[in-house]
Amino acid sequence: MSETATPILEVRGLRSGYGGVTVLKGLDMDVGNEVFAVLGANGAGKTTLLATLARLIPLQGGTIRFRGNEVSGLPAFETAGRGVGYVPQEKGVFADLSVFENLCVGGMIGQRDRDERMAEVFGLFPDLAALRTQLAGTLSGGESRMLACGRALMQDPKLLLLDEPTAGLSPLYVDMFFEKVREIRATRGVSIILAEQNATKALAVADRVMVLSLGEAFLTEETGSLTTEKLKQGYRI
Ligand SMILES: Nc1ncnc2c1ncn2[C@@H]1O[C@H](COP(=O)(O)OP(=O)(O)O)[C@@H](O)[C@H]1O
Ligand SMILES: [Mg+2]
Repeated sequence: MSETATPILEVRGLRSGYGGVTVLKGLDMDVGNEVFAVLGANGAGKTTLLATLARLIPLQGGTIRFRGNEVSGLPAFETAGRGVGYVPQEKGVFADLSVFENLCVGGMIGQRDRDERMAEVFGLFPDLAALRTQLAGTLSGGESRMLACGRALMQDPKLLLLDEPTAGLSPLYVDMFFEKVREIRATRGVSIILAEQNATKALAVADRVMVLSLGEAFLTEETGSLTTEKLKQGYRI
């Protein structure tokens, strides 16, 4: 995280889960102006982490600071308003609204001219421009992922949370999406937390990586210094 002195996100002792179940058991992480990959086997807690950061799951303990302010108790719409864009693993779009209307929902947050922002999203995902009047519920898996990402980008986020954006997509879409992550990072300078199962592809775009294992950070490293051996240990394989 050498590029920035002050992290945009500081997480300390984060505990979170569902009802009486604790999934994240005291997680520490700092994210700066970078692509930060969160890897880990199925069930490791990646989705729980991102949903907690998006303030959709209450904390059981610890703190989350975003841009220097504590946001641990804020509701999701407040954190979105402060600059956290969230693309959930599933159901990131409003099925009964058109592509255009979905993007307008994202555009309700943020200051810049809505049409300008939408033109940028259509520039990034030209397929969406052609589908602008189509109902989101009728989109293919890949198109739906693009829309969910476009909707989050309409909010002009400072931090973008991407939860397995390529899960279940065809190989062509997978490569395209990782290329888009690179492009978003290069053109917007937004910090990105990318939860992924696909370690090889994620490591190719990430500056740093955290491997979650059984709800704890098994390791956090610069991607360049991560060895296959350590990665395997994190995945318990
Ligand atoms: N809504 C839920 N209620 C109870 N347990 C859940 C719920 N969602 C996920 N879990 C459990 O939390 C753990 C972490 O899941 P998750 O965060 O989805 O992992 P990942 O995204 O890394 O696959 C798993 O053991 C899973 O069964
Ligand atoms: Mg998940």
